[in-house]
Amino acid sequence: MNISALQAHYREKRPKSASFFEQAKNHITGGVNGNLRFFEPFPITFQEAKGAWLFDLDGMRYVDYLLSYGALLLGHGHPSVREAVQRVWQEQGTSSFGATYPLELDMAKELKTLYPSFEQVRFTNSGLEATLFALRLALAFTGKSHIAKFEGHYHGSHDQVLVSVNPDWERAGDPQSPQAIPESYGMSDYYLKHTVVLPFNDWAACETILTKRKDEIGAVILEPMLSGYIAANRDFVMRLRELTKQLGIVLIFDEVKTGFRISLGGAQAFYGVQPDLTALGKIVGGGFPIGVVGGKREILELASPSHSRNRGETVFHSGTFNGNPMSLAAGLATIRHVAQPGTFERIVARTTRLRNEIESLGQHYGIPVKTIGEGTIFNVVLVEGEITNYRDLRFARKDVRLALDFLLMDHGVYSKPLNRFSMSEAHGDEEIRATVDAFERSFAVLKKL
Ligand SMILES: Cc1ncc(COP(=O)(O)O)c(C=O)c1O
Repeated sequence: MNISALQAHYREKRPKSASFFEQAKNHITGGVNGNLRFFEPFPITFQEAKGAWLFDLDGMRYVDYLLSYGALLLGHGHPSVREAVQRVWQEQGTSSFGATYPLELDMAKELKTLYPSFEQVRFTNSGLEATLFALRLALAFTGKSHIAKFEGHYHGSHDQVLVSVNPDWERAGDPQSPQAIPESYGMSDYYLKHTVVLPFNDWAACETILTKRKDEIGAVILEPMLSGYIAANRDFVMRLRELTKQLGIVLIFDEVKTGFRISLGGAQAFYGVQPDLTALGKIVGGGFPIGVVGGKREILELASPSHSRNRGETVFHSGTFNGNPMSLAAGLATIRHVAQPGTFERIVARTTRLRNEIESLGQHYGIPVKTIGEGTIFNVVLVEGEITNYRDLRFARKDVRLALDFLLMDHGVYSKPLNRFSMSEAHGDEEIRATVDAFERSFAVLKKL
């Protein structure tokens, strides 16, 4: 599919974003503060957001399905969140104590009611820090040297897990025993040697690798839904829980994307499985930076400085802004709002309605589009067969999806090209209608390309 005409049109309609990007890239590496934020020919520069809507420098508006990578379950600037953050200023007078204060306990208790696998928690500033800390705890607890992760799963930008996230098909190796492929230049060989890559949803292959390397592997970390939308088979998750228990391996659910999105209790409530440790992020901060590690007391206690252990025998964890009042207040306001009876269910019902409309439009226009996901996240994948793991994604028409994304942006819908769709409470009838209309117009053009 020739995308250049669509990109030329995109450029023509956004002279201010184009010119901003030209300036920005002289000062900010690549013009973006994160490689994933870039797309060709240049990313849109936004200047305002409200509810479910984004407004760009060129005066165009979009229904937002990126929602800051899924972090905003109530949409932009929800009144409860604003009020909670303003209250912090008024009542506490600071945005950071760098010390303990009551809101930390409120949040810890709130999380424990929704995530019964949490006996204790620690707060961090990002999902990256949460998975890093969870893995360090797991290796300390087991005394082993290696971690195992699944091909295609993302756990943040630290070296231990920046392995085989999006490996080239040609280099990825045997599907049943994938190669560890670095995701970045500059990573030490140490990580490639100490991170074992597992095939997702292939139980026989996983069991073989884990059993064979049980003396080295101290942790298995996974996104229970690959990239937030490709679900683990229920049986696969159950068996993984059983086997890791038997082999003395700490099971870590990375629920940074799925937490509060698949269900309020995350993917672990959906599957009815309790991991040993869980990483949360995104929604827990209500739009402010956060990460959480929650799980078994006996594992988390290894980080407790109040035990009389030698310093070398305590798991180190710290951070200037850990558990800062702004993130906790905004997060608590979000969780309490969405936990009101019927609220989460309403967001899920609207997500399902939108997905159904997109799929039936696809059928009408003869475009093989599937919406894959659970709860309040889904992705739009152009594929005929089933998608159960990273390798299956090679059958998807990424080129058509990219064209669709440019057409959607042209008609006022934004998810960032090739990204999944997250919904929020702010996505109501008007937004869904505008989105369905944009899909219809885009499919009509796509059909002729
Ligand atoms: C599953 C998962 N884990 C970890 C992270 C890293 O979180 P952060 O970007 O807050 O560092 C992400 C971010 O998208 C994620 O989706």
